[in-house]
Amino acid sequence: MAAADLAEGTLQNVLEQDSLKWVFVGGKGGVGKTTCSSILSILLSRVRSSVLIISTDPAHNLSDAFQQKFTKTPTLVNGFTNLYAMEVDPTVEHEDMGTDGMDNLFSELANAIPGIDEAMSFAEMLKLVQTMDYSVIVFDTAPTGHTLRLLQFPSTLEKGLAKVMSLKNKFGGLMSQMTRLFGVDDEFGEDAILGKLEGMKDVIEQVNRQFKDPDLTTFVCVCIPEFLSLYETERLVQELTKFEIDTHNIIINQVLYDEEGSESKLLKARMRMQQKYLDQFYMLYDDFNITKLPLLPEEVTGVEALKAFSRHFLTPYQPSTSKSTVETLEQRVSTLRQQLKDAEAQLEKLRKGKQKV
Ligand SMILES: Nc1ncnc2c1ncn2[C@@H]1O[C@H](COP(=O)(O)OP(=O)(O)OP(=O)(O)O)[C@@H](O)[C@H]1O
Ligand SMILES: [Mg+2]
Repeated sequence: MAAADLAEGTLQNVLEQDSLKWVFVGGKGGVGKTTCSSILSILLSRVRSSVLIISTDPAHNLSDAFQQKFTKTPTLVNGFTNLYAMEVDPTVEHEDMGTDGMDNLFSELANAIPGIDEAMSFAEMLKLVQTMDYSVIVFDTAPTGHTLRLLQFPSTLEKGLAKVMSLKNKFGGLMSQMTRLFGVDDEFGEDAILGKLEGMKDVIEQVNRQFKDPDLTTFVCVCIPEFLSLYETERLVQELTKFEIDTHNIIINQVLYDEEGSESKLLKARMRMQQKYLDQFYMLYDDFNITKLPLLPEEVTGVEALKAFSRHFLTPYQPSTSKSTVETLEQRVSTLRQQLKDAEAQLEKLRKGKQKV
């Protein structure tokens, strides 16, 4: 069946699934993750009591999308009463880690388990937002590789904890310095540290369980109709399946439509290329909701632009050519006639000029 014959999908399903608590939005660099996660959070704020959108991309751009400055604490988005945004840096700050001994121990830990520092701060952040009681939390994630690392964080942390235990046996004395890492006063001693580690383990296990529960968590893949993006989406979907994280929505952004009956060869060639990959997306992901979004002539920044673009999340995009009326076609024919007449006149002029030479 040709792609055009398939029913067009929307993101209505995400808005209707009221049990969802965590919505991840991810994909390759520059495909529209921030735009799509911002719009999803705006739409969710209409049907939920409170929504938090978090950017875990070190190159934060929620501020660009909403044209408002955000920090690592949730801030109300201008013009909303229940939509909050925050930008967190998943790379841990080492400055307040304390003594040299601590640094050594920490770097030994960090070397032993790649990504542990990032996983630690991600876990801390999740622990924090869990206590804040938002109805749903949307993640604007960093490009694919980075996101997959973050989603692996429960197992990274578990490995980390095992390593800490073995380090404890190896360097018993240094353990008292570990206290600072977990924010416990020295006087609390080793038992308190172990208690804290156990507590952390509980948070991890709880979050891990939530992320693997399709009633609570879903991952929305954003891509563009090009080879690299198709390839990366497949990798992402496979990894998510491996981590048992639900994914059943793909947004194909920046789709070209020829709405002005353009004669541009470049546009036509790009559209043919896109169609090839669109067909492949529909073939590969026939059990997904696929939502196509048009490439606009301008950027999608600011709440108004995001709101205007959000209608394509709710109803499938209809290029204006497919609803062409007799008048618009007549208009097009008359423009083409005029263009033909102009070209003929110009050719005639050139020919006359040539004869003179
Ligand atoms: N359909 C579209 N039409 C026109 N411009 C778009 C469209 N989608 C996104 N943009 C613009 O493209 C740029 C990149 O989009 P966005 O920031 O959402 O991508 P991203 O995937 O978050 O990028 P990064 O990987 O850098 O975080 C932005 O300037 C955005 O306004
Ligand atoms: Mg972004």
